[in-house]
Amino acid sequence: MAGSAVGLGNVWRFPYILGENGGAAFLLVYVAFTILISIPVLLTEFAIGRMTGKSIVRSFKTLAPKTKWYYVGICGVICPFLIISFYNIVTGWTLYYTYESMAGGLQGLDEAGVQQVFADTSSNMGISTFWMIIAIAIVGQVVARGVSDGIEKVSKILMPLLVVLIVLVCIRSVTLDGASDGLKFLFYPDFSKLTAKGIFAALGQSFFSMSIGMGIMTTYGAYIQKTENLSQCAVRVAMVDFMIAFLAGIMIFPCAFAFGISPDQGAGLVFVTLPNIFNQMFMGRAISVVFFLLLVIAALTSSISLFEVLVSFYKDQFRTSRRKASIIMSLVVAVTGFACVVSPTIFNFFDQITANVMLPLGAFFIVLFIPIVLKRERIKEELEAHGKSMRLFNTYYFLIKYVVPVAILLIFVNGMLDWIGVDWL
Ligand code: PHE
Repeated sequence: MAGSAVGLGNVWRFPYILGENGGAAFLLVYVAFTILISIPVLLTEFAIGRMTGKSIVRSFKTLAPKTKWYYVGICGVICPFLIISFYNIVTGWTLYYTYESMAGGLQGLDEAGVQQVFADTSSNMGISTFWMIIAIAIVGQVVARGVSDGIEKVSKILMPLLVVLIVLVCIRSVTLDGASDGLKFLFYPDFSKLTAKGIFAALGQSFFSMSIGMGIMTTYGAYIQKTENLSQCAVRVAMVDFMIAFLAGIMIFPCAFAFGISPDQGAGLVFVTLPNIFNQMFMGRAISVVFFLLLVIAALTSSISLFEVLVSFYKDQFRTSRRKASIIMSLVVAVTGFACVVSPTIFNFFDQITANVMLPLGAFFIVLFIPIVLKRERIKEELEAHGKSMRLFNTYYFLIKYVVPVAILLIFVNGMLDWIGVDWL
């Protein structure tokens, strides 16, 4: 579960979205949403999955037969499809940066040089496409062979190592000359910088980062033992996920400010910032290679969870083998991925529409399913299946019945109005 949650969403997307939306004030809103909205949603997804032992579509079909609830699960197939289309490109950039760090192409460059490398990488369709295809091939292979177990074992060792490296890079970043402005950006809230769009983005980012709102976590929930404490699982996943995003912020912003890189420059932020830190670090080149490689692995564990959804859907729908489904879906996401390489507009559209629109809508219906169809006692029983009563059950129930749906609606409508240019607040 942590493998799906922790990925580029934490290290690449979180800093760039936070940078675009004003820093510390965004961070506070993000934390509040994670606690009050995302954790209850995650817990609900886990509980539904464990209750039925099935994926989201089948869970809805089982729990609410002869209704249209399972349509929510359809979003759970379209959404991973759109996400993986642009996600693979970023994994590809990370792979390319691993290679370039090894080859020495990022070494000794000044800030402008580092900017140039990213500009060349993202605008060069050949490079972006080539590395994206490598990413797709790796993910396709893993899913085709069903060897996610192996990946899980490997990542159990490697992910803590990634955290250690992130901490090392953080230490170097905060000790750079001029780093304090970056810390200020991250920790001193300036609420005048917080817009409706920023609040909207914080909710979307929190969902994206925790892989919720499309039922992926329901499938994971199906594998959780009845003896496990689900609330504890949900809180742990959220904490690990948050810590890594938070550390990524501490790693990026002090360095960005020290080098005069503007925090709101969008999807390239991490790539134009990190090489500058490595260039200032003892053994920077070696650290850079290992760092990007570990980030690739974190990205792969997330992509695998996305791709698995597509492959099982295709396999069940068209009754083919896992291998064939995997090959066909790899080709399909290579085509949509290529569209994102050619057009940054499509890239951004997929990035925004999934995180900010589809995930909140998905989460909205997933939580409402509980009071409307399942009822209180049933979910309580599942949440307490490990044999202990859940202390915060009433709080949880209140949150999912009222707070989460109302908050999602408000944020949603407000953000949409802001998006199309109506300023009513
Ligand atoms: N949560 C993953 C990340 O942070 C991305 C992801 C989103 C994976 C949705 C699965 C589902 O990188």
